[in-house]
Order: sequence, then structure tokens, then C-alpha cells
Amino acid sequence: MAQYDVIIIGGGPGGYNAAIRAGQLGMKVALVEGRATLGGTCLNVGCIPSKALLHASELYEMSLKDFAGMGIEVSPKLNLERMMANKAESVTGLTKGVEFLMKKNKVEWLKGWGRIDGVGKVAVRAADGTEAVHEAKNIVIATGSEPSGLAGVTVDNVRIVDSTGALSIPEVPKSMIVIGAGVIGLELGSVWRRLGAKVTVVEYLDRITPGMDTETATAFQKALAKQGVEFKLGAKVTGAKATKTGVALTFEPVAGGEAQTLSADYVLLAIGRRPYTQGLGLESVGIVPDKRGVIANDHFKTGAPGVWVIGDVTSGPMLAHKAEDEAVACIELIAGKAGHVNYDVIPSVIYTYPEVATVGKTEEELKVAGTAYKVGKFPFLANSRAKVNHETEGFVKVLADAKTDRILGVHMIGPCVSEMIAEYAVAMEFAAASEDVARTCHPHPTRSEALRQAAMGVEGWTMQA
Ligand code: FAD
Ligand code: NAI
Repeated sequence: MAQYDVIIIGGGPGGYNAAIRAGQLGMKVALVEGRATLGGTCLNVGCIPSKALLHASELYEMSLKDFAGMGIEVSPKLNLERMMANKAESVTGLTKGVEFLMKKNKVEWLKGWGRIDGVGKVAVRAADGTEAVHEAKNIVIATGSEPSGLAGVTVDNVRIVDSTGALSIPEVPKSMIVIGAGVIGLELGSVWRRLGAKVTVVEYLDRITPGMDTETATAFQKALAKQGVEFKLGAKVTGAKATKTGVALTFEPVAGGEAQTLSADYVLLAIGRRPYTQGLGLESVGIVPDKRGVIANDHFKTGAPGVWVIGDVTSGPMLAHKAEDEAVACIELIAGKAGHVNYDVIPSVIYTYPEVATVGKTEEELKVAGTAYKVGKFPFLANSRAKVNHETEGFVKVLADAKTDRILGVHMIGPCVSEMIAEYAVAMEFAAASEDVARTCHPHPTRSEALRQAAMGVEGWTMQA
């Protein structure tokens, strides 16, 4: 029986980063993964393939609508097969990269599905059905999440697809209904709208992207509606029937009223994700997940001796970079170091056009907490680089403590904000005041000047608007 310092179950961003850090710290480490490739949801069917399609479809739409105005005359023609192949190449390149990193850091990949078999033991069942038991001083659960289901809507990944199916639809749908106005629905809905589908989003709540700063979410909805996305808010889906050629979806107003039917070529179900712990043997160490399936943790420790948990399967936002930060902190704690994650500074991005990027508290959260705050806001319409590039939609909003000026939250919608949010994340990690950003020289002409101008706005001395 092999003995390890740590066995990590699950090879996603949580698991593979934990494995790398353990290898770097000289631990004898094994990573258990049942998929044929490493990288988890993120690399195989999540962040990476969705961003490949978002990038390609954005360029396609730009070439159709924006190039001519800048003096570039082209006649773009969609080659969906090639776009999908490009996506697959991105995935393969990166999953192979993770495999290389495992070898480089002396991590043993135990191929198969892992099951905790009592304290300090992990049984791994290989694809051929054989099972081997391994011993470890520490076990890290990093088994991730899976799409949530909805009664009356059976995902067949032919006509009714989840996020994985939506990444591989073999034709451009004429029409698509998206259930759920969250991150997946709006990102993948955007991909298919850009390629030619009429997209209708059906959302249970009376707003999109719940949890997002409301002013930002409202601007986001307006921007998507202008692009042709139709929203049916406050709508309760009661069922979906698939035929060979399409889907009929029924819903009724949450507030009460008449049921309606909508038909489309495809339906994408994207109403959230739930932790994945199937067949994990949690009962063998007395771990009981909560009603939502979440395994609780205290600084990544579960209630069972030597069993730790990180990533989507535990509490907090289901984001790859959050899983990655927890991975490093968890392994450092196992090694007796001071691992730590600052949950107040975890940025979050929606990779649509315009992009949305946020970090820290929303205005609504500050109001509930009774925190006095000041707002600085700057529109991209007044940013020279955004104007030159014809990308003037959106704004940057900075929320700072009214007494101390410490930055509490930043919400941006606009061009390239996915890259720019990190500036504010660093500032917040250093407990910066908005004045620190306001007095930092930013290059001209760049979109990043909007970050500075918004910070200047907190004390009312914005100069370019
Ligand atoms: P996962 O990545 O889910 O990895 C868990 C792994 O564990 C899986 O490979 C699974 O096969 C394996 N596993 C499970 N049980 C066992 C077992 N018993 N034995 C062996 N192996 C097991 N996040 C972002 O931050 N940015 C994005 O742009 C983004 N885009 C996304 C787009 C889509 C369409 C989706 C679905 C998700 C996206 N996410 C994004 C979320 C991101 O993918 C997750 O937050 C992230 O993958 C979580 O990492 P993890 O390591 O906790 O779990
Ligand atoms: P989500 O939580 O972002 O959004 C789900 C939406 O569905 C919400 O608006 C919710 O109100 C709605 N909803 C719930 N039940 C419903 C019902 N019965 N009928 C209609 N609407 C309903 O979940 P989503 O989009 O599935 O994404 C899951 C997670 O994956 C995200 O929370 C995020 O953590 C991660 N992700 C992150 C990405 C990124 O960082 N860019 C991209 C994609 C996913």
C-alpha cells in the first residue's frame, strides 16, 4: 500500500494547484482524477472552452459590424466546425500543460475515481474496474461541482443542454431559450446570439445576475437587450418538452398570471451549480454535507481528522481563482505555514461584451451593513481610448468608506474590465484609500485612466468628465 503526505481528490484548479504547491514544499503527493484529462471543469468544460468561444464569436461579430467603420472591408463567413476545433485545441493545450506541471512537481496522478475509505485511506477505482487503496496523512477533497437540475426540464444534451452541451452545439440555432440570467446563461447565450441565434433569457427573479451591484446589473441588462437578447424576468419555468427539432418551454409569472409557452431550437439550463460528492465515501469519515451539498470547513479543515476541503465543493463563490487561492492556503496550513485567503477581495468577471468585473462590497451590501460610503463614478464615454476604439459603453464605480476613504468595492462594466479589475484587487489587498489610486499616475491614452478618474470622483475632482 502506497503512503503519501497528501492525497488530493479532484484534478481541477483547486486540486491541481494544491498538488503543485505540495510538490513545491517537498511533500509526497498524489492527485486522484477520474476524467481522461486534468484541469477539472474549468479547463475541460468551463472557463477555457467558454472563453475560446466568447473570444472567437466576439471577433466574428466585430468583423461583421465594426470593421467597415474603421476602414477594414471584409466579408466574414462563419466556419463553426473550425471555431469548435480552435476551442478544442485551447483545451488540449492547457490540460496537457497541467499534466506536464504534475510531472515537473513530482505529483503522482492516480487515474480513476477516488473514494475515502476511512481516516487516512483513499480507494481509487481505475477505468478497468480495478481498485487500489492508498494511505495518506492528509486528504484534500477538491471534487468541484456539477450543474443543478430543474424539475420538468430533462437535460439530454441534444436539444435541452447544460453548460457542457452548450459548448458543443453542432449548428447555429435559429433560436435559443436560456433558463437563468446568471453568468453561464449570459456568457453562453452571448456566444450563440453573436453567431446568429435569437436568444431569450427566462429568469425566476425580477432582475439579472443576482448578487451583483444593482446599478451595474441594470446597465448590463440594458447593454444585452440593445444587442437583441430578450429577457423574461419574474418567470417560473414549469416544464420543457423536447422533440427532434426543438423544444417547447412553459412558464408562468412568479407573481401569478397566465402560463405561456415559448418554442426554440435549443434550451440551455443554467440555474446554478451544486457541489459534487457522489461516491466520495464521506460517510466513512463522518462528514455530512449541508442541504445544498456543501462540505463545511474551518480554514479548509473538515470535521474529520486529516481531511481538508477546497474549491467549488465547499462554501464561497464557485470560481477557479478562489479554488486556486484556497489550494495554496490549504497546503501551506498542512505544511505548518500561515495559509490565508482574503474572501473580501475575490474578483469576479463576466466575459460578455461589454465585460462586467467586480470586487468587494456592493452598494446594497454596504447599505445593509449600515456602512457610510462615498461613490466615485466615471463613464467610458469620457475616456479617450474607449472613444477612439468605439467602446464607450459602461462605467467604473468605486465605493469608499466615508470616514477612512478605504476602498470597499469596485464595480465596472465596459471594455477590458476583466483585465483592469486586478488593479483594484491589489489596491484593496494593500488596504488602499481611493485617494491612493486617484494620485497614481496612469498611462494615457488607456482605458485604465477610467479607474483613476473614478477614484478621483470619490472626492469630487474627476477631471475628464
Ligand atoms: P472542478 O474544476 O469542478 O474539478 C473537480 C474535478 O474533480 C473534476 O475534474 C472531477 O472529474 C474530479 N472528481 C470529482 N469527484 C472525483 C472523485 N471521486 N475521484 C476523482 N476525481 C473526482 N470560473 C472562473 O473563475 N472563471 C470563468 O471564466 C469560469 N467559467 C466557467 C464556465 C463554465 C461553463 C462553467 C461550468 C464554470 C466556469 N467557472 C469559471 C467555474 C470554474 O470552472 C470552477 O469554479 C472551478 O473549476 C472549480 O474548481 P474545483 O477544482 O473546485 O473543481
Ligand atoms: P448563477 O448562480 O450565476 O445564475 C443562475 C441564475 O439562474 C440566477 O440568476 C438565478 O436566479 C436563476 N435561477 C435559479 N433557479 C431558476 C429557475 N428555476 N428558473 C429560472 N431561473 C432560475 O449560475 P450559473 O450561471 O449556472 O453559473 C454557475 C456558477 O459557475 C456561477 O455562479 C459561477 O460561480 C461559475 N461561473 C463563473 C464564470 C465566470 O467567472 N466568468 C462563468 C461561468 C460560470
